[in-house]
Amino acid sequence: RHKINVAIDGPAGAGKSTIARLVSKELGYVYIDTGAMYRAVTLKAMEKQIPPNDELKIVELTKQLDIELIATESGQKVIVNGIDLTESIRSNEINKQVSKFAGISKLREILVEKQQQLASSKGVVMDGRDIATHVLPNAEVKIFLTASVEERASRRYKEMLEKTPELTITLEQLKNDISLRDQMDLERTASPLKMAEDAIKVDSTNMTIVEVVQTIKELCIKKM
Ligand code: C5P
Repeated sequence: RHKINVAIDGPAGAGKSTIARLVSKELGYVYIDTGAMYRAVTLKAMEKQIPPNDELKIVELTKQLDIELIATESGQKVIVNGIDLTESIRSNEINKQVSKFAGISKLREILVEKQQQLASSKGVVMDGRDIATHVLPNAEVKIFLTASVEERASRRYKEMLEKTPELTITLEQLKNDISLRDQMDLERTASPLKMAEDAIKVDSTNMTIVEVVQTIKELCIKKM
């Protein structure tokens, strides 16, 4: 079988990373989480107190970052200039700020080039917002993974409760945060979240993880 590239796009909390990781395991492919890259830049910019409107400084900062995505048994590690930021890039604060930084087109250019390099020998499953439309327009399989905002919020909520039993955020707040992030990602001018014309839509609202993985795996095998 010949190697292909798989693009998985969709709104926040649709389960893209879980699904993309499992599909990559099934196929023996490399998983690339592009959201982690935008999150890493956001965290470093916030640390250095660079606001999202200071594009020059953001670009300068991004060029200095060496972002490594390392697959582990249970997921992936995100190492930035040698420091493990896996946990810290998932904070609520980053969730709220990341879309502002992700709207900067010069920053996107740098990260997109890196993403394209990582996929140049094929055999990757890449997830994000603009993978099928912009980063890998020639990907053999393009999936647009969605679920209702209620379902996405409630999945996130359960996941957060497992990690932190005394949550300070309510389900309603979480739903609002997710909707706001969707809105920013949909409405920005630089590569907004949009389903590619040749993508296949998978609505996971009433599907199990295993069902979604199986569906995508079958689509991939047909193209190999
Ligand atoms: O996928 P994740 O939720 O980790 O992505 C975080 C944010 O990074 C998104 O809300 C979006 O603003 C940005 N992003 C993007 N393009 C991608 C991946 C993520 O703009 N390909």
